[in-house]
Amino acid sequence: MFKFAALSAFVALVPLLVNAQVAAYGQCGGQDWTGATACASGTACTKVNDYYYQCLPGSSGSSVSGGSGSGSTSAPSPTSTVPTSTSSASTAPSSTSTSSAASSDNPYTGYQIFLNPEYASEVQAAIPSITDSAVAAKALKVAEVPVFFWLDQVAKVPDLETYLAAADKQGKSSGQKQLLQIVVYDLPDRDCAANASNGEFSISDDGQAKYENYIDQIVAIVKKYPDVRVVAVVEPDSMGNLVTNMDLPKCSAAAPTYKTCINYAIAQLSSAGVYMYVDAGHAGWLGWPNNLAPAAQLFGELYETSGKSAYFRGLATNVANYNALNTSSPDPCTQNAPNYDEMLYINALSPLLQQQGFSAQFIVDQGRSGVQNIRNAWGDWCNIKGAGFGIRPTTDTGSPLIDSIVWVKPGGECDGTSNSSAPRYDSTCSLSDSLQPAPEAGTWFQQYFEALVTNAVPSL
Ligand code: BGC
Repeated sequence: MFKFAALSAFVALVPLLVNAQVAAYGQCGGQDWTGATACASGTACTKVNDYYYQCLPGSSGSSVSGGSGSGSTSAPSPTSTVPTSTSSASTAPSSTSTSSAASSDNPYTGYQIFLNPEYASEVQAAIPSITDSAVAAKALKVAEVPVFFWLDQVAKVPDLETYLAAADKQGKSSGQKQLLQIVVYDLPDRDCAANASNGEFSISDDGQAKYENYIDQIVAIVKKYPDVRVVAVVEPDSMGNLVTNMDLPKCSAAAPTYKTCINYAIAQLSSAGVYMYVDAGHAGWLGWPNNLAPAAQLFGELYETSGKSAYFRGLATNVANYNALNTSSPDPCTQNAPNYDEMLYINALSPLLQQQGFSAQFIVDQGRSGVQNIRNAWGDWCNIKGAGFGIRPTTDTGSPLIDSIVWVKPGGECDGTSNSSAPRYDSTCSLSDSLQPAPEAGTWFQQYFEALVTNAVPSL
């Protein structure tokens, strides 16, 4: 699920930056920063957080030392004009939010999250084979946690109707408005930088038309249930791959189709009133200083081409990954990265998105982030041993930029097979920090589920 690039490139670049002038959007300071601090003309060294200062356009070249204990002055935070919504949806929400005033139009506010029946039945089915009764009792509690429903094949779309109908009924009988969480995940040539989650559509076999039909089916169903709010994570990994993996032929060839398809999805899902968070990788991927500005530019372009849809609420981070939301002790695998947790990543990305006119809000997956210090390398992503369920979904996020902490990845569903003869085998799933033997991506992995339960923090 997670493609890792540019860490080594970044590390290699650092010595070259010393004594150089930092280009727009480059890092110019922060705790332990040893690189150049002078910004190119027309930009100013601006504090993003204690660990990360950046040359942002707006004033003539200046230099602020952000090194540890330097007593550096903070440049003012970047500001931007809030865009006006041009969404054509009749019930379009106001898009007048700013990064510091999220809660009033947070799509999660005032709604109860409908429990994903598919996951609840997977969990129920897992209980009888758990031999330790204390673990079994804890496991049962996981069925009560809302996780996203992944529409990872078009054949699953009819289940969406079943779940929406059930949510609608529950909302009407209880008087408590219901919110259903889905992942839109069926791009042609999906997972272009890895093998584990290769999808059912290929670009060479009419994949774009098939994808549009998949979206149309989702939209037609959602429109039948206007009283149920739908929140979607859009296409995990796809935009991240367009930022860092364009050197891979499959990704560069897929890029135009990915963009067309995601634009189509945003436009159509907006017409059905679906609130969307496009996947934005995580701190150890797009959070590296060299990746932040290109990522912000790409998301800004997407926001622009979506017609600044008010339903394109923002970005989802850490989907199916393991990073902490907010930690005081960086995981050693983060290797002195300035943005070593999701909060730091979001705080660094947000002002750059603002500069693109995109007041993005965030949701953050913490489903498998309970335990840190379990990866040999930050780029390892497949069924990491020792992982535990993490912070429960909540809108009490500790940040005005974060609408909700969520569980996107249904913990217990596999990331990828370790069977080297399987067509979707990805060698990442055979690394020493991956639990093995592992079944196909998306299928149930009982041993992994039991470990997530046992290692959960907070405990179940
Ligand atoms: C798999 C999907 C699955 C999702 C959630 C992905 O890694 O490719 O098939 O639905 O994880 O478990």
